[in-house]
Amino acid sequence: MTQVTYQILRNDGKGGVPHFQNFVVEIGETEAILTGLIKIRNEQDPTLAVRYSCRQEICGSCAMRVNGKSRLVCSRLVGTETKTHNNTIRIEPMANQPVLRDLVVDQTPFWDRYRHIRPHLILDPANPLPQGKESRMTPEQVDQFRETPRCIACASCYSACPAVGSDPDFLGPMALAKLYRFTVDPRDAAYHERLEGIQNQKLWLCLRCNLCVEACPKDVRPAERIVDLKRLANQEIGKRERGSKHSIGFLNNIEQGGLLNETKLARDSLGLFGMLGQVGKGFQMMRHGKSLKKHPPIQGLSEVQAIYADLNKPEDIKGRERPVGKGVKGE
Ligand code: SF4
Ligand code: SF4
Ligand code: FES
Repeated sequence: MTQVTYQILRNDGKGGVPHFQNFVVEIGETEAILTGLIKIRNEQDPTLAVRYSCRQEICGSCAMRVNGKSRLVCSRLVGTETKTHNNTIRIEPMANQPVLRDLVVDQTPFWDRYRHIRPHLILDPANPLPQGKESRMTPEQVDQFRETPRCIACASCYSACPAVGSDPDFLGPMALAKLYRFTVDPRDAAYHERLEGIQNQKLWLCLRCNLCVEACPKDVRPAERIVDLKRLANQEIGKRERGSKHSIGFLNNIEQGGLLNETKLARDSLGLFGMLGQVGKGFQMMRHGKSLKKHPPIQGLSEVQAIYADLNKPEDIKGRERPVGKGVKGE
């Protein structure tokens, strides 16, 4: 047993100024951080608001920020934090959701985004599931969404995501990872509709920072599922939509010259008319020393193009991008 300082962000949920309060707890290094919070509530301050249920990393209700990172406090051990943070554990409520009190947040924004993706199978009425029988899938079909069913909806990824905080349109890592699961499910009939429904900002605002991957306690790797969704969107929606146009333009841009040509990228993404609306931004960029001139191709461009050729081998694309058993265009 050792003495550990729990530094907890208190918030009365009634407009008072949030402030840190220290509690010293006698606790073992191999105990869960949640055990210390329960001790504080039982022995020092019964008004401390904490949410938890299963205490076994199953229900997803105890996510908080521990020393700045999203964690499930029922599975994170005291010793793991105290070793690197001078015997102190700083605990704050999850980000990107309004605080109700102390460490408890209102998860409405998180669940609203989840509801938005229609998280259930959408069946073709002409092709119903077999009555009273299993609906079988091949191992290859199941492999395509092996990670997403592990999600326990704890919102750790949502709390860690900077894009969620900056734009209310972005659906966030968990909702997009779940959506991916339905787009590749061979029983689901809304493939095109689902991909169309997440254009433009709902999908493409992801910054690929990978913070959601780091935060996820179940190794769902939401950022990777978002990349998968972007690939599917590029195939299915292609150059009709701005996000896809931007990513395809980016790819072509580097392949052709080895460097980003911002003027060409803007033209590929927005079209000539769309660019007219960006003239002001162009002047602003030039004022800040950004050159919009076309660069000559880089030395060693052939090596870049060889990488592209390697990545674009048909057998590779087929394995990585196309849902097995889906009527994807071009199959
Ligand atoms: S990778 Fe995308 S979804 Fe994940 S945290 Fe970063 S911005 Fe959010
Ligand atoms: S994807 Fe991971 S971090 Fe996000 S809600 Fe699901 S289990 Fe939690
Ligand atoms: S209390 Fe259920 S996941 Fe932590």
